[in-house]
Amino acid sequence: MKSSHQFWSSPGRFLPAALFAVALVAIAISCSPEKKEGIAEGEEWFKSYCTTCHGENGDGQSQMASMMNPPPKNLRQIAQRRNGVFPDAEISKIIAGVEKVPGHSTTDMPAWWEAFKKTEGITDDKVLQSKIDHITAYLKTIQE
Ligand code: HEC
Repeated sequence: MKSSHQFWSSPGRFLPAALFAVALVAIAISCSPEKKEGIAEGEEWFKSYCTTCHGENGDGQSQMASMMNPPPKNLRQIAQRRNGVFPDAEISKIIAGVEKVPGHSTTDMPAWWEAFKKTEGITDDKVLQSKIDHITAYLKTIQE
């Protein structure tokens, strides 16, 4: 008599399904957590250090903005301002303060490389770079 357990007791069907499930889990583990953690950390840092000027959601609307010239940029339109391309390396450099914001010789945008060294007490350049890259990764997720 055929039972409803046949699917599970039949190796021919069960095995491929099990392998498929294992593969899915493996893919999920291999590509997401580190990246997700990085973005989550970037968001945290963004909320701590950037929203006073760039606004809660990064759109450039803040109390500070009305007093600044040039005003803080809308960080949701970084890609839009560059023909749809989000330049990760350039943005990390702008945040670090290594690269000035295009189109301006002087800027009120703080140089975070030096600032983070002081406020976060980070002395390892690699760690510092990864923190900044995480902020860049977060900004990439909020592009319009
Ligand atoms: C004191 C105010 C202030 C704070 C705080 C601030 N910014 Fe800015 N930011 C600015 C200003 C002003 C500009 C525009 C400068 C210009 O146009 O010359 C700018 C520009 C930028 C740009 C360039 C955008 C583009 O499309 O070129 C990025 C990226 C950026 N800020 C990221 C950040 C991040 C990340 C933080 C937090 C770690 C931060 N800013 C904190 C004032 C601020």
